[in-house]
Amino acid sequence: MSAIDGGIVMVTGASAGIGEALATQLASRAKVLILVARRRDRLEALATKLKATHGNLEVSVFECDLTSGTDRDRMVKEVDERHGGVDVLINNAGVGDMSLFELTDWKKLDMMIALNVTALTHLTHHFVRPMIAKRKGGILNVSSGFGLVVMPAFSTYCATKHYVTGLTEGLAMELRGTGVTITQTCPGPVKTEFVAHVGDNFLGQDTPSFIEISAEKCARQSIAAFDRKIVLTIPGIVSAMGTYIGAALPRWFRRFFFGLTSGALRNKQMAALAQKSSR
Ligand SMILES: NC(=O)c1ccc[n+]([C@@H]2O[C@H](COP(=O)([O-])OP(=O)(O)OC[C@H]3O[C@@H](n4cnc5c(N)ncnc54)[C@H](OP(=O)(O)O)[C@@H]3O)[C@@H](O)[C@H]2O)c1
Repeated sequence: MSAIDGGIVMVTGASAGIGEALATQLASRAKVLILVARRRDRLEALATKLKATHGNLEVSVFECDLTSGTDRDRMVKEVDERHGGVDVLINNAGVGDMSLFELTDWKKLDMMIALNVTALTHLTHHFVRPMIAKRKGGILNVSSGFGLVVMPAFSTYCATKHYVTGLTEGLAMELRGTGVTITQTCPGPVKTEFVAHVGDNFLGQDTPSFIEISAEKCARQSIAAFDRKIVLTIPGIVSAMGTYIGAALPRWFRRFFFGLTSGALRNKQMAALAQKSSR
């Protein structure tokens, strides 16, 4: 039996996309779902829907800007008081950025690091110790294929997801024999609101449909990996093949190959910026 079954499960970023799909699929198994994000109205609507279809389910909604340490402190304190911690922590909330490094707004990078790195680490640190004491529990980190490979114009996002890979792999070793498991899911493109928040799509290209998977499929495969205590999973066969091959290539080759595209990317973004400022 997995820690999800009859457990207290927290899903961050449950107001949209993969997080909403994870919460929806876990509703029939968890005793309590704790939904965290900034958009309370969306969380409330999801809570109402899930409670209507799963009579015994308790759903707690926490409006929280996870980039704020004060908000996180308040949220984890309330969760501990109300529920006595969590059995399963799903660190899903995350944002991306597509831009050449020097052209990105610092505030955006700062916020991305606070969410993808600091908040994920803070929540893991806060909730894992009681899990170890109970010898029961698990963490599911929603990373990205960019946690295993690197692309120009995504450098900081890739770096945040490589951090998640490093932390997850390290903790997978540390947690052996404690009764607590950790899994990271590294999806390629998933059809969600993510790209709309990534910034100007200066490449002007949509993701080819044969690569993109639905949030539901991503959630299903990620939960299956968590249940099987698998440390790393890549949902979607095309993304899995591409990412495993990309990650297996020698670093010098990846630098050479992707480096060839960076001049063209710079020209494209400069042209897009010039067009924007002339409007
Ligand atoms: N979609 C993809 O192609 C893809 C691929 C690989 C990995 N991922 C990863 O998957 C995860 C989920 O992304 P998604 O695709 O489902 O994107 P999404 O549809 O944009 O959802 C992002 C979620 O994160 C929450 N969030 C954003 N900023 C937050 C903040 N400051 N505090 C609290 N919650 C915040 C959002 O809620 P509020 O706005 O209501 O706060 C929302 O629920 C991310 O970690 C992302 O890096 C996505």
